Amino acid sequence: MNIKERLENLRNMMKRKFISALLVTQDQNRRYLSGFTGSTGWLLITAKEAAIITDFRYWEQAGRESSHFRLVKVNNFAENGMIKSLLGLLKELRVKTLWFEADALSYSQYLALKENLKEIKLESKSGFVEELRAVKGKGELELIKKASTIADDAFLEIQKLIKPGITEKELAIELLYKMRKRGAEKEAFDIIVASGPNSALPHAKNTDRRIKEGDFVIFDFGAVYNGYHSDMTRTVIIGKPDKKHREIYSLVLESQRKALKTIKAGMTCGGADLLARQVIEEGGFCEYFGHGLGHGIGLAVHEEPRLRKGNEALLKAGMVVSVEPGIYIPGFGGVRIEDLVEVTEKGCRVLTRAPKEEL
Ligand code: GLY
Ligand code: MN
Ligand code: MN
Repeated sequence: MNIKERLENLRNMMKRKFISALLVTQDQNRRYLSGFTGSTGWLLITAKEAAIITDFRYWEQAGRESSHFRLVKVNNFAENGMIKSLLGLLKELRVKTLWFEADALSYSQYLALKENLKEIKLESKSGFVEELRAVKGKGELELIKKASTIADDAFLEIQKLIKPGITEKELAIELLYKMRKRGAEKEAFDIIVASGPNSALPHAKNTDRRIKEGDFVIFDFGAVYNGYHSDMTRTVIIGKPDKKHREIYSLVLESQRKALKTIKAGMTCGGADLLARQVIEEGGFCEYFGHGLGHGIGLAVHEEPRLRKGNEALLKAGMVVSVEPGIYIPGFGGVRIEDLVEVTEKGCRVLTRAPKEEL
C-alpha cells in the first residue's frame, strides 16, 4: 500500500463516519499518512484537500517527502503561528466542523484552538488513523522484519559476552552498538537488560549490577529501521538452572507456544490473552503475570491492537503483534519471552528467530 492509498482509505473512512475535515496531530499518524518524517507539523485532510502545516525548519523537507500534500507555511515568529495558519486554511476551505485527535492535543493547544477558531465547531475522535495503521501493508511488514532481523542478529553476536562479571549496562551498550552496526536507526526503546532480582521488574532500568551464576537475565530490546520498530525478549540463565528456574521458564514458554499455535485472524484480542494466561494460571503463577499478552507494533513500538484481558477487538490478517507472557517473582527474578508475529487467516507467522529452548 503506498501513501496515496493510505490517504484514500482514510478518506473512505471519514466519509463513512461523516467526518468532513480531520486535523492530524499525532506524530506517527502524520508520518503514516504523509510520509513526512519531521518532528513538527499538522495535517489537514478533507475530501479534496490534503495539507501539511509546518514551520521554516521543515519546508524543504516537507516538499521532498510529502510532495502530494499542499504545504502551508507557519510563521515561526507569530504567537500561535500553527493555529493561525490552520485558521487561514479552514476559512479558505469553508470548514464548519473540525475533528481533532483527542489523544494527541494538549489541553493548552485545545484551548488555543477554541479561542482562535471561534466560528468552527470542534469535535474529537480517538484511534481513527490508528485503526488503519493496525493492519500492515507488504512494505511495512518488510520493514518490521528487517528491524526484527537486526535485533535477532545483534543478540546472537553478544552471546559470548553473557558471562558472570559483565554488567547489565555493558550488555545493553553492546546490543545497541551491534544493532546500529547492522543498520538500525536507533533502538526501539530503552534496552532492558535485567539480571537476578532485577529481572522481576517487567520494565527494569539497566544498572551497574554484575551478572552472576544462578541469575535469570532478561533481554528486552528492538531496533528501528526506516521508522518501523521491532521488539523481542529472551531470558537466559547464567550457569545451571535449579528446579524453580526450570518450572517458571517452561511455564512461560508453554504459555507462549500455546498462544503462537492458536492466534489467528478472527480471534478477539482478549481471547488471545486468555489462552496464554490460562497456562500460567494453571501452573499456579497467575498473580505474577500482571501485564497484557502483547501489542501491535509498527511506526510506534506500542500501537493497536492491544492483546489484553477483555479487549473484544478482533485480530485481522496483516496485523503484527507481540506475544510476550511473563512471570515475575519479587526477590527471586523473572522470565519473559517475546516474539513478534504476523497474524494470518490461518494462524500466525513468527518473525523473531532467536532461539528460546527449554532450560
Ligand atoms: N519493553 C516493551 C515491551 O516489550 O513491550
Ligand atoms: Mn519488549
Ligand atoms: Mn513488547
